[in-house]
Amino acid sequence: MSKVALVTGGSRGIGAAIAVALKSAGYTVAANYAGNDEAAAKFTAETGIKTYKWNVADYDASKAGIAQVEADLGPIEIVIANAGITRDAPFHKMTPEQWHQVIDTNLTGVFNTVHPIWPGMRERKFGRVVVISSINGQKGQFAQVNYAATKAGDLGIVKSLAQEGARAGITANAICPGYIATEMVMAVPEKVRESIIAGIPAGRLGEPEEIARCVVFLVSDDAGFINGSTISANGAQFFV
Ligand code: CAA
Repeated sequence: MSKVALVTGGSRGIGAAIAVALKSAGYTVAANYAGNDEAAAKFTAETGIKTYKWNVADYDASKAGIAQVEADLGPIEIVIANAGITRDAPFHKMTPEQWHQVIDTNLTGVFNTVHPIWPGMRERKFGRVVVISSINGQKGQFAQVNYAATKAGDLGIVKSLAQEGARAGITANAICPGYIATEMVMAVPEKVRESIIAGIPAGRLGEPEEIARCVVFLVSDDAGFINGSTISANGAQFFV
């Protein structure tokens, strides 16, 4: 029986590439999505990967959605907390609503996703948690006080989970993608995007598949001693 993997935000962008790569590597994959039914239906038609709709910002909805995935496919042994949003604005213009939307989805959403799955991983003495953070959690970013706070928070989450899970055969790691060619980055004004790309030594945006390949490695049995770490994949834009 192949291991079951859940990818949140898994029907578009980096999440979709992760879901497809995990399926290709032999895992049974469930892709969560929040709202875009059309994109989810298209994704399932193209890939054969089942999609499940719930809002990761809602604990009860996450718990119920995860229970449904496990009833359909079996216990989740691999979880990729990828779902994330941006609500960019310079700090003096950032509204409390923009702050809370990003915190609720990107940070509390990681708690809501991993918390219901964690007890089963502990019981079975195996688990793989990968949280998709960001270069902007490492370096900060103009107009992203909210987003950078959540992505830095992800690093604290995995370092703590790693210590708690290590003896139970669970690893928790973060990936910090740089600027990747997804709708999220394409939404940045063109002029700003051009100046961002000019600052990437690789001279290009990353591809979602380049992040997906990191995930496939981190969830493999071969990566069992890599725990609490952060993998940067950013074309040499920033070093920690
Ligand atoms: N550094 C310094 N100054 C900057 C800047 C930057 N990176 N970006 C914009 N500014 C300056 C502008 O030059 C302008 O200055 P002036 O007022 O002197 O002309 C000012 O900030 C813009 O002020 P506005 O009041 O016009 O700003 P706005 O309210 O219209 O907001 C913005 C515009 C939201 C900042 C927009 O420029 C933007 O979206 N920037 C991109 C932010 C960004 O990089 N987000 C990352 C998204 S991708 C992602 O998040 C994925 C990932 O993990 C990597």
